[in-house]
Amino acid sequence: MASKKATLHIEGDIPIELPIINGTQGPQVIDIRQLGTSGYFTFDPGFLATASCESQITYIDGDKGILLHRGYPIDQLANNADYLEVCYILLYGQAPNYQEYKKFKTTVSHHTMVHEQIASFFRGFRRDAHPMAVMCGVVGALAAFYHDSLDVNNDMHREIAAYRLLSKMPTLAAMCYKYSIGQPFIYPRNDLNYSENFLHMMFANPCEKYEVNPIIARAMDKIFTLHADHEQNASTSTVRLAGSSGANPFACIAAGIASLWGPAHGGANEACLHTLEEIANVDSIEKYLNKAKDKNDPFRLMGFGHRVYKNYDPRATVMREACHKVLKELNIKDPLLEVAIELERIALSDEYFVEKKLYPNVDFYSGIILKGIGIPVYMFTVIFAMSRTIGWIAHWNEMHSNPSNRIGRPRQLYTGQKKRDFKPLYKP
Ligand code: CMC
Repeated sequence: MASKKATLHIEGDIPIELPIINGTQGPQVIDIRQLGTSGYFTFDPGFLATASCESQITYIDGDKGILLHRGYPIDQLANNADYLEVCYILLYGQAPNYQEYKKFKTTVSHHTMVHEQIASFFRGFRRDAHPMAVMCGVVGALAAFYHDSLDVNNDMHREIAAYRLLSKMPTLAAMCYKYSIGQPFIYPRNDLNYSENFLHMMFANPCEKYEVNPIIARAMDKIFTLHADHEQNASTSTVRLAGSSGANPFACIAAGIASLWGPAHGGANEACLHTLEEIANVDSIEKYLNKAKDKNDPFRLMGFGHRVYKNYDPRATVMREACHKVLKELNIKDPLLEVAIELERIALSDEYFVEKKLYPNVDFYSGIILKGIGIPVYMFTVIFAMSRTIGWIAHWNEMHSNPSNRIGRPRQLYTGQKKRDFKPLYKP
C-alpha cells in the first residue's frame, strides 16, 4: 500500500516522484518502476537495497535475528511442528488442522516413488560424481516424465508439480547416495514419516533389517525445517527468475539446485565441515582466524556471516541446541564440536568479527549433526536442496499466482566498448 512519496532530484531534470510502499513489517520500499521511462536506471549489483518481488511467505529481520514463516517464528516451528506441517504452512499460508495435515501427509507419502526409468539416468553418471551435479541433472529430467503437470498457468498442474517435487526429492537424494557407494536403490515406504522414510532409503539395504532410530529421525526433521525457506536468497531468486519466463517447475528447481551448490550459499555446510576438520584442534583456531581476517588471503570462515543477519542467525540458535542434544543422546563425542564451540566463542569476541557483525549461520552446526547421524559430507548440500525445495516451490507458485507477474529482466550499467567497426580477419 502506497503512503508517502519520495522525490528524486536530478540536476537539470524535472524531479521524479516515486511512491513509497509499506509492507506488513520491515523497511519501507521506494517503488522505482516508473524510473525506466525517465531515462535512468538504478544500480544495485548483488541486490543490496532492492526488493526483487512482493512476497507473503517469509519475513526476516536481520538486525534482530528474526525469521518468520507465514508469521510463525522459526524456533516455534522447529521445536513444535514437524517438517511436513512447515511445508503445508509455506505452501498454503496457514497451519493445517489435523484433517488437512493427515491428507497432506498421505498425499506426499503416496508420491515418493520415481519412474523406474529414472534409475537409468543415474547409471550415466560416474560413481564419484558430486551428488549435487547428479541432482541438477535428475531433477531437471523429471520434466521429461511428468508431462501432465507442466502448464504453469494451471493452478492444478502447479499443485501436482509441488507435491511431486516435495515427495520425490528425498527419493532422488537417497538414490544419489546409494549410487555413490554402489548399493542398490531402496524403494520408499509409505508407512514411515518424511524423515524416517528418507533415512530408510539412505541406510537400509536388502540384506538386513534396518530400523530407523527415532532420535536421528527427529534431528533430521529439524534440519529439514530449519532449511525450508529463507525468502529471496540466491537460489530462491534463481527459481523465480527461471520461472518468470514460464519455464517448467522441474527445470526451475534444477536451476535452484545449481545456485544453491555454491560455497557462499548452500555449499557452505560442506565447506564448513571441511574447515572444522582442517582446524582439527582448538590450538589451531587462532591461525585460522588470522587467515580469515587477512585481506590478502581468500580464506573465509565458513558458517560465519550472512547477507541479511547482522545478529545471531535464529536457525543457528536452534541448530546449536539440537547439535548438543543429538550428540549427547547418541553418545557421540566429536572433537569437531569442541573446535566449533571454541571457534564460535573466540570469533564472537574478536574485534574483526564483532565490527563486521559476523555471527554463526545455519551451516555452522548443521554439518556436525549431519556427520553425527551418519550422513557423508558430500551429501550435506543435497540435504539442504531437499529441505529448501518446498521454499522454492512456494515462491515459484506465489509468483505464478500473481496476475502482475512479468518476466524477470534486470538492466545493466554498460561499461564496455562503444560502437566500433569490425575489421574482417585476413584468411589467406
Ligand atoms: N569470514 C571472514 N570474513 C568474512 C566472512 C567470513 N565468513 N564473511 C564476510 N566476511 C567479511 C568480508 O571479507 C567483508 O569484509 P570487508 O568489508 O573488509 O571487505 C565483510 O565481511 C562483508 O562480507 P561480504 O562478502 O561483502 O558480505 P555478503 O553479504 O556479500 O556475503 C556471505 C555474505 C554469507 C556470502 C559471507 O558472509 C560468506 O562468504 N560467509 C561464508 C559462507 C557461508 O557460511 N555461507 C552460508 C550462508 S547461510 C546459508 C544460506 O542461507 O545460504
